[in-house]
Amino acid sequence: MPAPRFTLAQRLPADYLASSLGRDVTAGLSAATKILPPKWFYDARGSELFEQITRLPEYYPTRVEQRILTRVAPEIAAATRAATVFELGSGSSRKTRLLLDALTERGTLQCYAPLDVSPSALEQAGAALIHDYPALTVSATVADFEADLTLPPEAPGPRLITFLGSTIGNLDPAERPELYRMLRAALGPDDAFLLGADLVKDRDVLVRAYDDRQGVTAEFNKNVLYVINRELGADFDPDSFTHVALWNEEEERIEMHLRSQRAQTVKVRALDLSVDFAADELMRTEISSKFRRDGLTAELADCGLDVRQWRTDKAERFAVLLAVPSAAPEG
Ligand code: SAH
Ligand code: TRP
Repeated sequence: MPAPRFTLAQRLPADYLASSLGRDVTAGLSAATKILPPKWFYDARGSELFEQITRLPEYYPTRVEQRILTRVAPEIAAATRAATVFELGSGSSRKTRLLLDALTERGTLQCYAPLDVSPSALEQAGAALIHDYPALTVSATVADFEADLTLPPEAPGPRLITFLGSTIGNLDPAERPELYRMLRAALGPDDAFLLGADLVKDRDVLVRAYDDRQGVTAEFNKNVLYVINRELGADFDPDSFTHVALWNEEEERIEMHLRSQRAQTVKVRALDLSVDFAADELMRTEISSKFRRDGLTAELADCGLDVRQWRTDKAERFAVLLAVPSAAPEG
């Protein structure tokens, strides 16, 4: 029998949701300023809501990144001659198709290895891809990219590691270097890293992108409460929280919060935890940092990644950059 062209490896520990989500919720909701980490948005419903966000008129990043990739994909294919594309937080893999097309055209592509915490996103993307790319092997991995960057062992080089959608901006500034260093360690001398990053711009444009008129982003934000209710037996009433998106000028980032409409107590059964919310108290659910060329180039260089190409749209709303391991790696 021929090897299957689509495989899905489950690398999350069996008790991942209960233990890891439980830890995050305990720490985040006991803190003076309440915080929930963002990777918990993406269950099947969350992944579907995010896809809807990418089609909203206010959410420019997906469209602008798509346009840049359309323009630069042939150049990236020529520069990397990648046999494997390894993608972090791949979601629907829709924009990645531009790279897969260019590498197929070049004749170098053999394997696409998407990694995501969302099995439903990987299954849907994988099924569509093997249908549309008859010569491609798709080796998908369910994993947390902050903990496990292991490439499928069969993935041939040279490799192009991609991280699109400005998901890098959802990590906090201390977590970013940790990811860069893991990436740097995973890169061989002929491999490259392609990063999509949203740039600092007009505050109103930014806020609108995270607070759309249809309320899809609000639903997405509240989805984390449904996840916690389901996985940890909590009794959050999502209707008693309001979606808030605000621009933090000092940190140059969008922050998503949920504001408790009234004083209330929420019980999290699986954790034996009782959490008090004051009226109007904010709980932070997501950050989305926006970048400048100098700062991003410098933080990558500090971790042994040398930016070789920096490509933006004309209005410099979004950047797609190609980096390679520097000659003398740090650390
Ligand atoms: N790359 C796609 C999707 C971006 S949304 C795009 O550009 O449109 C962010 C994606 O990263 C989601 O699919 C989510 O499930 C995934 N994700 C978020 N945190 C993750 C983590 N810690 N490990 C693995 N995947 C993660
Ligand atoms: N990586 C996306 C971004 O920062 C994720 C995102 C878009 C998001 N809209 C959101 C996360 C709304 C939480 C809520 O743009």
